[in-house]
Amino acid sequence: MSIFRTKSIEQSLRDTDEPGRGLRKNLSAFHLTVFGVGVIIGTGIFVLTGQQAARNAGPAIVLSFALAGVVCALAALCYAEFASSVPVAGSAYTFSYATLGQFIAWIIGWDLCLELALGAAVVSRGWSAYLQELFDLPAWLAGDKAVPDFGAAFIVAALTVVAIMGAKLSGRVTGALVVVKVAVVVFVIGLGLFFVKAANYTPFIPDAVPSEKASGGDAPLLQILAGITPQHFGWFGIVAAASIVFFAYIGFDVVATTAEETRNPQRDVPWGIIGSLIICAVLYMATAAVVTGMVPFTELDTAAPLAKAFDLVGQTWAADLISLGAVCGITSVILVLLLGQARVSFAMARDGLLPPVLAKVHPKYGTPWVMSTITGVVVAVLAAFVPLSELSELTSIGTLFAFVVVSIGVVILRRTRPDLPRAFRVPGVPWLPAISVLASLWLMLNLPVITWVRFLIWMAAGLLLYFVYGMRRANLAADAGEARLTAEGGRSGSAA
Ligand code: ALA
Repeated sequence: MSIFRTKSIEQSLRDTDEPGRGLRKNLSAFHLTVFGVGVIIGTGIFVLTGQQAARNAGPAIVLSFALAGVVCALAALCYAEFASSVPVAGSAYTFSYATLGQFIAWIIGWDLCLELALGAAVVSRGWSAYLQELFDLPAWLAGDKAVPDFGAAFIVAALTVVAIMGAKLSGRVTGALVVVKVAVVVFVIGLGLFFVKAANYTPFIPDAVPSEKASGGDAPLLQILAGITPQHFGWFGIVAAASIVFFAYIGFDVVATTAEETRNPQRDVPWGIIGSLIICAVLYMATAAVVTGMVPFTELDTAAPLAKAFDLVGQTWAADLISLGAVCGITSVILVLLLGQARVSFAMARDGLLPPVLAKVHPKYGTPWVMSTITGVVVAVLAAFVPLSELSELTSIGTLFAFVVVSIGVVILRRTRPDLPRAFRVPGVPWLPAISVLASLWLMLNLPVITWVRFLIWMAAGLLLYFVYGMRRANLAADAGEARLTAEGGRSGSAA
């Protein structure tokens, strides 16, 4: 029994071919790019842009988006290589199992719940707030002040049904919503340009001001460690904002969770990951530049800053249209995060790290329906009851941690399996992955101290569960898998 035991890539691929345990393959590079944009553009651009401009960066929020985009691009290249070499469900989890061993794989699988399940809950809470604003719903029914938040629970339940009905349907739903969402963002940029005033860009980088919470809490860990008086704005503010608007880019990595359902994963998944990231980075920087040019950045600290900017320049009709677009757009983010969570836990159950009943595939729809249902219930409850305003940062730290592990894994796999076919290869190994690790760590360190505390508590709970349950079961499952593989190898060997 070893916690560093790896699962061979051949075994991972073989698992997906077993009748009743594999997912249906019907996605192309185009589907994946749409899928990527579908999960990337959401609460981040619709809410955090304005809030962070007002609180941390001013008009230089454009630079924060650029910085976060560069960190993501480095990680995206690493994700693209691994998805082209280990094309099975489960994303960073499966990849870690093949490269760094069972223990790290568990850690990553557990960590990904922060990105996917918690992320879905955070985003559905935002969806509900926009819905409430759009239709002026009673405050007890939906939105920030509703406990339980029926709006958030409802959207999670509805999308869980869509997720169970299959990748094709999910693809169609996200496809339609993505068109609306991209159209709204382009509309913001196109119409907003006419209202930009150069005066709003001065000062471009507002002077640093000390933050009142000097002893931790909201202060970035790095500022505390470096003994700097916690501050907003200035250059530190730009970086602090980058680590928070990083949330807006989350999602390109989720494309890798669909590798198993892709017709030609080695070629298509890298395209899906990199293509969707580039499209979103361009749209984000343009949106951030336009919105901070339309009104003074101090006006943007609200739940719906993009709509507010248009309200303030007298274009109320445009503000309503944007709110409607946000509700539609955010829907697809929730759906894709739910799908991602179900797929990762499905892969973990298939490996014995979670109870095997969770790895059941629906006979008609070919989806991991047991896992989707459980995910839906947990996320709906979370979204209904937990106050989520600060939890987006916990989602970000979890995602960045996965980036660190994947970037290290790429280098290890190059050494341990140089023979593996790779349709996409990261240039400059090991330097580029090393820079990716440092860049992700740097953004992590710029997140608030309280986020670190929550993150460490969550990971400690995961460790406990692994040693109590996962370790023994996974080793038994791995023994059985290896025995089958050897027996089949022997048979095909003697046949040859
Ligand atoms: N990137 C996604 C969003 O901003 C998670 O909503």
